[in-house]
Amino acid sequence: MSKSANALTLVLAACLLGGMTGPSAAQQMAGRDVTKPSAKLGLGRAATAEEIAAWDTDVRPDGRGLPVGKGTVKQGDDLFQEKCASCHGEFGQGVGRWPVLAGGAGTLKADRPDKTVGSFWPDLSTVFDYIKRAMPYGNAQSLTNDEIYALTAYILSMNDIVKDEKFELNEKNFTSIKMPNAAAFFEDDRETSEKQFWNKNPCMKDCRPVPKVTGRAMSIDVTPDGKSGPKVE
Ligand code: HEC
Repeated sequence: MSKSANALTLVLAACLLGGMTGPSAAQQMAGRDVTKPSAKLGLGRAATAEEIAAWDTDVRPDGRGLPVGKGTVKQGDDLFQEKCASCHGEFGQGVGRWPVLAGGAGTLKADRPDKTVGSFWPDLSTVFDYIKRAMPYGNAQSLTNDEIYALTAYILSMNDIVKDEKFELNEKNFTSIKMPNAAAFFEDDRETSEKQFWNKNPCMKDCRPVPKVTGRAMSIDVTPDGKSGPKVE
């Protein structure tokens, strides 16, 4: 079949398919409110405010999303021993191969850095958010907000970030806590630091000078002599 006949067949096929299937899925989706149930399909219903609130629990570094609540280091210590220490150890040192939550300060440049909440994590909000979603492992989302504040306070204390066991963490003083490694994290600055690559006509071909070949393995005689090497079938 010639090239032009091929193209014609494709156009015909497209027309036929278009005619048979009606508007494309993309056309159907455009302009549709996806939060509304589909009247056409008779499926689903709109999520209730309570259902959305149950999923909408993220806590951000600037404190947005923090629920009202409070808990002290001492309360957190008691809870931690009861619900967390079996895996993470009494002082967050980790039992067996369960994750270590404390220590490791100053090890980040070592060959085997000890990355813990205290030595590595830049934001306290991640600790709250993580515990709220995922811990205790196997019984996730069983903790109250006050318990999570207390546990977060205890993790701060085991990392020497707060020293007083009467210290109370709450939604108001939360963002005043600075994590030791926070400064080592920075915003993605490639838009400015790699500005030379961001232009309308980026180089796509022969962008680097071709290296000059000064010698080849054969001519400088580094290829092993066939007679001395193992025989390959
Ligand atoms: C049955 C064992 C177990 C128990 C009990 C448990 N955890 Fe965990 N925890 C884990 C495991 C496993 C991970 C790592 C999960 C992963 O990386 O996906 C983890 C991770 C964490 C982390 C993140 C550590 C990191 O550096 O990534 C925190 C914080 C934490 N747990 C806090 C708690 C708190 C608080 C409790 C008690 C309410 C608790 N855990 C109870 C097993 C447990």
